[in-house]
Amino acid sequence: MSKFATLCALLTVLPAVSYAQSPVWGQCGGIGWTGATTCASGSVCTELNDYYSQCIPGSSAPGTTSAPSSTVSSTTRPTSTSSGGSAPSTTPAAGNPFVGYTPYLSPYYAAEVQAAAANITDATLADKAASVANIPTFTWLDQVAKVPDLGTYLADASSIQNSTGQKQLVQIVVYDLPDRDCAAKASNGEFSIADNGEQNYYDYIDQIVAQIKQYPDVRVVAVIEPDSLANLVTNLNVQKCANAESTYKACVTYALQQLSSVGVYQYMDAGHAGWLGWPANIQPAATLFTQMYQSANSSPFVRGLATNVANYNALTAASPDPITQGNPNYDESHYINALAPMLASAGFPAQFIVDQGRAGQQNLRQQWGDWCNIKGAGFGTRPTTDTGNSYIDAIVFVKPGGESDGTSNSSSPRYDSTCSLSDATQPAPEAGTWFQTYFETLVSQANPPL
Ligand SMILES: *[C@@H]1O[C@H](CO)[C@@H](O)[C@H](O)[C@H]1NC(C)=O
Ligand SMILES: *[C@@H]1O[C@H](CO)[C@@H](O)[C@H](O)[C@H]1NC(C)=O
Ligand SMILES: *[C@@H]1O[C@H](CO)[C@@H](O)[C@H](O)[C@H]1NC(C)=O
Repeated sequence: MSKFATLCALLTVLPAVSYAQSPVWGQCGGIGWTGATTCASGSVCTELNDYYSQCIPGSSAPGTTSAPSSTVSSTTRPTSTSSGGSAPSTTPAAGNPFVGYTPYLSPYYAAEVQAAAANITDATLADKAASVANIPTFTWLDQVAKVPDLGTYLADASSIQNSTGQKQLVQIVVYDLPDRDCAAKASNGEFSIADNGEQNYYDYIDQIVAQIKQYPDVRVVAVIEPDSLANLVTNLNVQKCANAESTYKACVTYALQQLSSVGVYQYMDAGHAGWLGWPANIQPAATLFTQMYQSANSSPFVRGLATNVANYNALTAASPDPITQGNPNYDESHYINALAPMLASAGFPAQFIVDQGRAGQQNLRQQWGDWCNIKGAGFGTRPTTDTGNSYIDAIVFVKPGGESDGTSNSSSPRYDSTCSLSDATQPAPEAGTWFQTYFETLVSQANPPL
């Protein structure tokens, strides 16, 4: 994932001024709506349901294959997904959603870790490895077939909560956009824009929402679509990203709105310091994330942004890694401290979560953009709300450490040459599958130690 984007800042300059009309992707109608009912030029007010009409790009030209107007307006959704329409059905708690909750331990990851630990002959290392099963990670809903697992976990979390009295928080990654990972190859997804992908994505979100609705007693936190919006900030020169732009925005808007309607606390993925933290990229990023927040009616459930997902950057580097030269935002703290005020002044009072799952060791990479199974990496600071930074709600482990970033097999259809660079551990299996050697390194290099 995270195909690196350099300094190029290819902006889609969308106006960020105050609107007499609703902006592209903004709300333009629906029961209870009192704002503008006309749309910025280039977009058309399209009724999605009784509660929500949205300014969809394009003119009134249904029938074009790429414009989302036809796919969105011709569907029957979402009549049943949200009882309250665009308004959240529950009122968000004030403050940090992690405080007072115990992150639920994914039984899938725990089983992977236990099997891996059982294969380690060195008893000391095996004990350390086994302890990783107690570190909460996120569950990646990277295929629609995995959505039923969420129901299983929510039911389990509900019963743990009832028996222990400790409130549970289930952590998920929403990750199934059509034409996913548009600037790299290792994380290609199951849906394609050319083959009904936008509709499939709406169905995927509806299924997640249906599961969550059944367990209103369990809190859910979601990271929304790693890499997607960051790719729209820097990689519109890549044809697949340019093609996907309008679809990504429509799909992410739908996800934010629908998940807000069932009370999910959401953090949009915001790349990392070495991607959007560059001076040329950070303001365009702030503009895009604020637009997406506003497209979700500035829902308080859109809590903020997630950074460093599946990446290796330090939260606070002891000294800048030489590969970061030229970027004043050389670690995640600098990036967040620079980005948060830009978002706030644009109207998005964003809070952050930061992945430190594999950030225990630093100065490992040849280039900052390298992202694949980096040699010598170790588990990093364990998940905590004690972050030392008022912008940061929690340090989290989003990427389950031990699952591969991508294959080094050049014959594989999902091969990305980044996974054969000299700083990438090889041979590596396909993205998401267990990588025993790599896991053992994460354990032995953990910092703080396990
Ligand atoms: C553990 O070792 C067995 C026997 O060598 C092997 O079949 C299995 O795949 C290994 N499991 C892991 C998680 O590496
Ligand atoms: C836990 O308790 C709540 C509130 O009483 C209840 O709605 C829910 O069904 C219970 N969960 C399980 C798994 O029994
Ligand atoms: C590499 O991928 C090709 C194509 O999927 C496959 O046939 C081959 O067995 C793989 N090689 C290894 C070493 O896994």
